[in-house]
Amino acid sequence: KKSQPKVRDLEGVRVLITAGRNNEPLDPVRFITNRSTGRMGYALAEAALARGADVTLVSGPSGLTPPSGVRTVPVETGLEMYAGVMEHLDAHDVIIGAAAVADYRPKERSTAKIKKKDGPLVIEMVRNPDILLEVGQRKRADQVLVGFAAETNDVLENARGKLQRKKADLFVANDVSREGAGFGTDTNIVTLIDREREVDLPLMSKRDVADRVLDRVLELRLERQD
Ligand code: CTP
Ligand code: CA
Repeated sequence: KKSQPKVRDLEGVRVLITAGRNNEPLDPVRFITNRSTGRMGYALAEAALARGADVTLVSGPSGLTPPSGVRTVPVETGLEMYAGVMEHLDAHDVIIGAAAVADYRPKERSTAKIKKKDGPLVIEMVRNPDILLEVGQRKRADQVLVGFAAETNDVLENARGKLQRKKADLFVANDVSREGAGFGTDTNIVTLIDREREVDLPLMSKRDVADRVLDRVLELRLERQD
C-alpha cells in the first residue's frame, strides 16, 4: 500500500464535498435510488482532511462512517442535498460534486403506503435541480468547482461537455463500464479534464484518485492567484 502524503498543503482551505446517492421516496416504505456507495466522496473527505483542509461533507445515505474531524451534513433526497450545498456554499473555497445526485424524483410522495392494483403502476418523475450547474453560475472567481462524470460511453466527450456546461474548473471522467472502475469498487480509472489539459490516470485506489484530484485543485488555485 502506497503511503499517503504527509504534507498539510490544504491548511486553511475550506472544501465542500457531496457524496453518495439520494433516496427519492414514493411512499413511507419505498424509494428510488442508485448504486453509488459514497466511497469516492468519503475518500476525498479523508484525503482533504489529512492534508489540513477544513472539510464539509454533504452526504446522501451511505454505509460509510464519515472521518472524524469532518463536518457532516446528512441528507436523503436530491432536494435536501441541493439545500445543504446552497447553505454552505459561500463559506467554502473548493466545491467537489462526487455525489450521484438523483436526476429525477417521483412527482408525488404518497403519505400512505401505495397498494397494488391490477395492471401496471405508472410513476411520474420530475427533474431535481442540478446542484453543480447552479454552483457554477453562482460561484465567486476565487472558488474552484470540481465535478465527476460517471459514463458508460463517449466518456471524454460527455465529460468535456459537462465541464463547459456547468462552468466547472475540473472534471473527473470515469468509465463505469470498465473493470475496477465505478460503483462499489475501491479503485477507479479516471481522466482529469480541465481547460488546459487532460491527464489519464492508471487504475488506482479511490484514495489515491482523491489525492490526485486535490493536487490538481491546488495547482488551479495557485494559477488563479498569479
Ligand atoms: N450533479 C449535480 N446535481 C444533479 C446532477 C448531477 O450536482 N442534479 C453533479 C454530480 O455530482 C457530478 C456532475 O454533476 O459531479 C455530473 O453528474 P452526471 O450525472 O454525470 O451528469 P448530469 O449532468 O446529471 O448528466 P447525465 O446524468 O444526463 O449524464
Ligand atoms: Ca445524472
